[in-house]
Amino acid sequence: MIGIIGAMEEEVEQLREAIEVAEKKEKAGMTFYSGKLEGVPVTIVRSGIGKVNAAVCAQILIDDFGVTSIVNTGIAGSLKADIDIADVVISEDALHHDMDAVGFGYPKGQIPRMDVLSFKADKYLIEMAVKACRTAVPELGVHIGRVVSGDQFVSDKDKKAMITDTFHGFCTEMEGAAIEQVAYLNRLPYVVIRTISDKADDSATMDYPAFEKKAIENSVKIIKQFVKEFG
Ligand code: ADE
Repeated sequence: MIGIIGAMEEEVEQLREAIEVAEKKEKAGMTFYSGKLEGVPVTIVRSGIGKVNAAVCAQILIDDFGVTSIVNTGIAGSLKADIDIADVVISEDALHHDMDAVGFGYPKGQIPRMDVLSFKADKYLIEMAVKACRTAVPELGVHIGRVVSGDQFVSDKDKKAMITDTFHGFCTEMEGAAIEQVAYLNRLPYVVIRTISDKADDSATMDYPAFEKKAIENSVKIIKQFVKEFG
């Protein structure tokens, strides 16, 4: 069973419409839809925005729905000049750009007393995600790299420069690292697949609404193909 998490209603509604729903359950203000997408058993849920919502959601998926792998879909801001609006970023790893225990001698992003700086995505899921992109959206650029997450919409070039220089991320969003952390703690495979809606700089708040819809459309196509590859 694959657990599919999107933060926003727009990110999950089309996927939800595409599944044969066998079961609908509420918990922690979230609605979990279990059924078959492209013939493959999935549970799809809107987590809400931000890392706490995402973490709660991921743990419920694991505890109550018995998912064996987790995919986070949605949109993100690009952190690299060669990653354009509409391109896809697949997580090689993910970390929290707003975790800071530098005062205790930890590198920025490192959660004190955890054994890893970043959470590495599963190689097989990455491979399936790449395959899905090549088939479903062959016109789009696909990049495999670091996703950096924080409870911040990044829309400022100095902030972007700080995040980029420190973490060398490919894109930024607000849930991926939390979901990957929960899956890591539970020893489950995971991957984040995001389409780019903006450049996470001073143009982000203008670009975001303009490109959000198209980016989500592409995300939906990718996830449908991804579950086919996986199933
Ligand atoms: N999601 C989409 N664009 C984003 C940005 N610029 N910052 C954080 N999350 C995002």
